[in-house]
This record gives sequence, C-alpha cells and structure tokens, in this order.
Amino acid sequence: MARKKIIAGNWKMNMTPTEAVALVEELKPLVVNNNVDVVFCVPAIDIIPAMKAAEGTNINIGAENMYFEEKGAFTGEISSNMLVDAGVKYVIIGHSERREYFAETDETVNKKVLKAFEHGLTPIICCGESLTQREQGITIDWIRQQIKIAFLNVTADQAKTAVIAYEPIWAIGTGKVATTEQAQEVCAAIRVCIAEIYDAATAEAIRIQYGGSVSASSAPELFAQPDIDGGLVGGASLKPDFGKIVNYEG
Ligand code: PGA
Repeated sequence: MARKKIIAGNWKMNMTPTEAVALVEELKPLVVNNNVDVVFCVPAIDIIPAMKAAEGTNINIGAENMYFEEKGAFTGEISSNMLVDAGVKYVIIGHSERREYFAETDETVNKKVLKAFEHGLTPIICCGESLTQREQGITIDWIRQQIKIAFLNVTADQAKTAVIAYEPIWAIGTGKVATTEQAQEVCAAIRVCIAEIYDAATAEAIRIQYGGSVSASSAPELFAQPDIDGGLVGGASLKPDFGKIVNYEG
C-alpha cells in the first residue's frame, strides 16, 4: 500500500496565540488536500486556540516538543498527557535546534519517543548531519546512529506509525535546500536502517520526510522521490506558500 504523504509545518518560536488563530484562518482554505496528512506544529501556548480555529478542517495541530517524564517537578516542561488531553496527535521530537540550544541528545530523544508512543502520540523524529559531517563523508553513518538510538526499545508496530524527518542542519533556515538526489539518498538509507532494525514491512510502512528550506518550488520534485513521504517545513509554513507545498502536485 502506498504511504500517505505527511506535510508538517514547524512554526518554531513564532506567532502569539492571536496571530496563530489569524494564520490558521488564512491558511485553512489553502491547505485543503485529502490525499496528504497536514499538520501544523505550533508553540505550546498556541495549541488550544489553533485547534479551535482549525476545527472541521483537515488541519491537525501538533506540538514542537514534549518532556519524557509523566508529571511533577519539571518547571516549564509539557508532558505527553497534556498534549493528548489538548487533542494533539503529532509531536516533533529532537529537532536540531532542540539539540543545539537545549542540550537534547539521542538518548533524550529516545526517552521522548518511547513516552510519546506510550500515550498514543505520533512522534516526528528528527535527524540530520552538520555541514562538516557531510564534507567528511560520514552523513549516512551519523544518521544511522541517530536512528538506531532513537528507536531503542520501540516495537515494530510502533515504528510503523512513526514519522522520521531527515533535516540536514546546513539546509535549515539557510535557503540552501539539499539536492533531490542528496535528500533521496539519505531517506533511502534511513529506510534500509529501519529494515535492518525491524523488517521490510516496517520499513515500507514508516514515513520519512525531508526538511530544510523546503519551498513551493522545491517541494514537487522532492516529494516525488520514492523514499520521501512529505516534508517538515519551517519558514514557508508561516506563509500562504504552505498551501502550494501541501498541494505540490499542482
Ligand atoms: P526551514 O526549517 O524550512 O525554515 O529550513 C525546517 C525545520 O527546521 O524544520
């Protein structure tokens, strides 16, 4: 069975609750496409108002992060239970900005992934290499390590429902999109890695996005690749362009 594409916006630290409602209102007629799953991952404080604004549409409101503990003395953190209660289904885990600025590691990513699954959330698990790593020719080794740690103790049934976002760090927010060949090569390698950890059926089922300066013009070719099942979109998800990305088939 063909994998359904999943196109997710990552709003990062943008949009007040008032602005979030206005943006959902603006984008909702533009992102209609029942052939793809459409997700807006928004700042935690925007989740509930964005969800109200998106009611009755094909937009899923997701989160940008969560903590791996259930509850308690973790000032400032948000639990998977809280997300579930708010109606969230998708949560980005281990974005490279979380790793760089908030000390997240492959180990904390794994803990978060396990906790997300425990509560029925679908994690969008991020991986990606730096420019130095690419130049040193260790991209695939690096990504394989990130994937293997992220999926420690995750069952095959859980893995089948996961989303992986391959985001080369050098392509994020730089306007420097990976070439279609580079993106496809790594996404294919991720699928091979999943097949090695689990089996062919799991590798066939799991959805792998490309992220990093995706635009309305680069999306059609990227999303047409056999191992690229959609995108994780930062900058362009805050603009009407996101409608064009969601409707990349024209
Ligand atoms: P960008 O961000 O599309 O602005 O490069 C992508 C991301 O960080 O998910």
